[in-house]
Amino acid sequence: MSSTDVSSLFQPFRIKSLDLKNRIVMAPMTRSFSPEGVPGDNVTAYYRRRAENEVGLILSEGTAIDRPAAKNDPNVPFFHGDAPLSGWSNVIEAVHKAGGKMGPQIWHVGAVKSFQTDWVPPSPIESPSGLEAPNAPRGEAMSDETIADTIAAYAKAAADSQRLGFDTLEIHGAHGYLLDQFFWGLTNARDDRFGGQTIQERSRFPVEVVKAIRAAVGPDYPIILRLSQWKQQDYKARLAETPDEMAAWLLPLVEAGVDVLHCSQRRFWEPEFAEIDGENGLNFAGWAKKLTGAATISVGSVGLSGDFIAAFGGESSAPTSLANLVQRMEREEFDLIAVGRALISDPAWAAKVHAGDTAALKDFNAADLGQLV
Ligand SMILES: Cc1cc2nc3c(=O)[nH]c(=O)nc-3n(C[C@H](O)[C@H](O)[C@H](O)COP(=O)(O)O)c2cc1C
Repeated sequence: MSSTDVSSLFQPFRIKSLDLKNRIVMAPMTRSFSPEGVPGDNVTAYYRRRAENEVGLILSEGTAIDRPAAKNDPNVPFFHGDAPLSGWSNVIEAVHKAGGKMGPQIWHVGAVKSFQTDWVPPSPIESPSGLEAPNAPRGEAMSDETIADTIAAYAKAAADSQRLGFDTLEIHGAHGYLLDQFFWGLTNARDDRFGGQTIQERSRFPVEVVKAIRAAVGPDYPIILRLSQWKQQDYKARLAETPDEMAAWLLPLVEAGVDVLHCSQRRFWEPEFAEIDGENGLNFAGWAKKLTGAATISVGSVGLSGDFIAAFGGESSAPTSLANLVQRMEREEFDLIAVGRALISDPAWAAKVHAGDTAALKDFNAADLGQLV
C-alpha cells in the first residue's frame, strides 16, 4: 500500500462549543459489554484507549433513553438511572484526561429485535405503527401519550449528556430504528399528524425530538443527528430518491436544531446521485452538506477491504489505501469522517495513520467483536 498525504484528516475543526483536533470520529458501535445497562471499568478503558491514540471525536455505542423498550439487548448500556450515568461519568472523565472529546449516541430501537439475542424488553415495544419491518407486526403503535413521554425521554438524556460533561451528543436516527421507522413510509402508516404521504409529514416526530433536545441543551451545545437511506430491514431502501426529496427531509431537521448530519453509508465512496454527478460524484454526506449548509460526517469502510454487514457474518477485512478519502476531504465534500471496524481491532489506528505508519495497520478481525480490544 503506497503512503498518502493524510494532513487534510488532521486539521482542526470547530462547531459551536466543540473544538476538535482532527477530522477522525470513532463511529458509534454497539458492543454489549454493559451488564444491567451499566458501563464499567472495561468500557471506560476501551474508550480511553481511543482518546489516547488521537481519535478527534468519540461517539459512544448506542445508549438507551428512559423508555421501557428503548433497547433490545440486556448488555447495551442505559443512558438513564444512577448507576449507568455514574458509569458514563467515569467514561467522559477518562476520555477528557486523555485529551479526547466524546458524545453519547442516544438510542431507541423502536420495534426492532436484536439479531444477536432473543431477550425481550419490558412492554410496551413501541413504534409508529406497531411494525418491525414492512408487513411484520411487533409491539404497539405509539399513542399521543407515549409519543410525548418518548420526546421527554430524549430531552432528558440530552440534558444528562450535557450535565455529565460530554462535549456533544448524537441522536440515532438511522438504520431502521425508532426515528427511522417514522421517516420510512413502509413502517409509518399513521393517519395522524406524525404520519403522511410525504417525508416532511413523516419527519414530524423526529423534528419534535430535535426541538425538545435543543430546548434542553441551549443554543451552543452541538447536536449531531445520524441518518441513513438504508435500513437493516432493507439495505436498498431510500428515503430520498432525488436531491429535492433529500432537501425536504434534511432541511426541517437542521432548522429544528441539528448542527451536524452524520450520513451513514456502507461505503463512503459510493455516489448518492450518480445520475446527476457521475460515478465519482458526491456521497450522502456530500449532498447533505451541499443541500443544507450543515456540517457533515461521512462513514463507511474507511481503510478496509470489506463492509460492516459482512463483519456480522464473521468476515474480516484487510487495510486499504486512504487515497480516495483524502481526495474527498481535500475538496471539502464533508467535514469529518467516522471510522468503525478499523478502530474496533486497533485503538491506535488514528495515531498510526497520522504517523504514516501504514505497515503497522492491522486487519479488522471479526473475532474482536467478542472482546474490548
Ligand atoms: C459491531 C458494530 C456495532 C454497530 N453499532 C452501531 C450503533 O450502535 N449505532 C450506529 O449508528 N451504528 C452502528 N454500527 C455502524 C457503524 O457505526 C458504522 O456506520 C459501520 O460500521 C460502517 O463503518 P466501518 O465500515 O468503518 O465499520 C455498528 C457497526 C458495527 C461493526
